[in-house]
Amino acid sequence: MSAHRIAVIPGDGIGREVVPAAIACLERIAELHSLTLEFTPFDWGSDYYLQHGRMMPDDGLPQLALHDAIYLGAVGSPEVPDAETLWGLLIPIRREFQQYINLRPVKTLDGVAAPLASEHPIDLVIVRENNEGEYSEIGGRMYRGLPQEGAVQEAVFTRLGVSRAAHYAASLAASRRGRLTSATKSNGIVHTMPFWDEIVAETVSLYPDVTLTAEHVDALAAHLVLKPWTLDVIVASNLFGDILSDLAAAVTGSIGLAPSANLNPEGRYPSLFEPIHGSAPDIAGNGVANPVGQIWSGAMMLEHLGHTQAARHLQTAFEAVLRDGVRTRDIGGTASTAEFTEAVLSMIDAQA
Ligand code: NAI
Ligand code: MG
Repeated sequence: MSAHRIAVIPGDGIGREVVPAAIACLERIAELHSLTLEFTPFDWGSDYYLQHGRMMPDDGLPQLALHDAIYLGAVGSPEVPDAETLWGLLIPIRREFQQYINLRPVKTLDGVAAPLASEHPIDLVIVRENNEGEYSEIGGRMYRGLPQEGAVQEAVFTRLGVSRAAHYAASLAASRRGRLTSATKSNGIVHTMPFWDEIVAETVSLYPDVTLTAEHVDALAAHLVLKPWTLDVIVASNLFGDILSDLAAAVTGSIGLAPSANLNPEGRYPSLFEPIHGSAPDIAGNGVANPVGQIWSGAMMLEHLGHTQAARHLQTAFEAVLRDGVRTRDIGGTASTAEFTEAVLSMIDAQA
């Protein structure tokens, strides 16, 4: 019997609806597979910010560090600037805990009508560099309020940062179909992107079973729409990976379906698992949010914690429910969050 301590941050909006739904599924799986998952909730997020002027307490990171994993819903509220919610919680967690890989699997799910009709199933993974690149704090504003006002923001790419993302992506590709596509833009961005290309090529040359193709990110965006089934693993910088993964998720159906993992591959710090969607204030409180992205992120967490069978059980259960035609509104159904979750719980039992 292995015990895992999991910090839970439901956050804001629909995070508070899909996290409890997904935890009910994880608890059922834990019971059936004799795992001990200890969930500790943290009420951090926008309400906490409105009361305390910060997204989490001063010792928030040391508190999280005591856990084996972090399970997050979403943060963001119309009452708090998005830069505060992001830089006050998610980005410090990703950086301080060296979660330098953002992993986003994308695949066709039976029973979900994708916006682009195709008989070819999509099965790809985006490996996004998660600690540096375009999302840097370096820069500033000058001449505020004057006609000549300007802003500068620097992208930062390091040998360590690029090579560890490339290593992770290459070894993942080696365990799959052996095809790695690197998102570049070395024709327009003439310093950082050629540097990225060089280090990616150098790193991937250590993996004889992996074929590397560099594609300009604009062409790759078109590729994702036109022939996504030809892609296996994509490695991309922080910004390019962010954009490509929302695009890829949309191509398979809804952003409500897509999961992600922010990984510290060495396991020195806890990794964080979250759906890619935000707090969806437009539907929050109505009980209609799609919990699949949150549940699937939970399956990734189980896998990361070393419980492959339990992860597969959870994954096949929600996939079977979708295949049976139980769907939330964002993918053309009528099921509420609670109804969908009930169906997953029954399927977990049926498949036990
Ligand atoms: P969003 O992902 O919250 O919503 C975009 C659209 O997709 C909305 O129409 C929403 O109703 C729909 N949607 C999203 N998830 C859904 C689900 N599970 N089921 C059904 N429909 C779903 O993105 P938006 O509107 O740009 O951002 C809202 C807030 O969330 C902002 O404050 C933003 O900063 C924050 N956000 C937080 C993220 C995080 O915590 N990692 C990620 C993205 C946005
Ligand atoms: Mg995004």
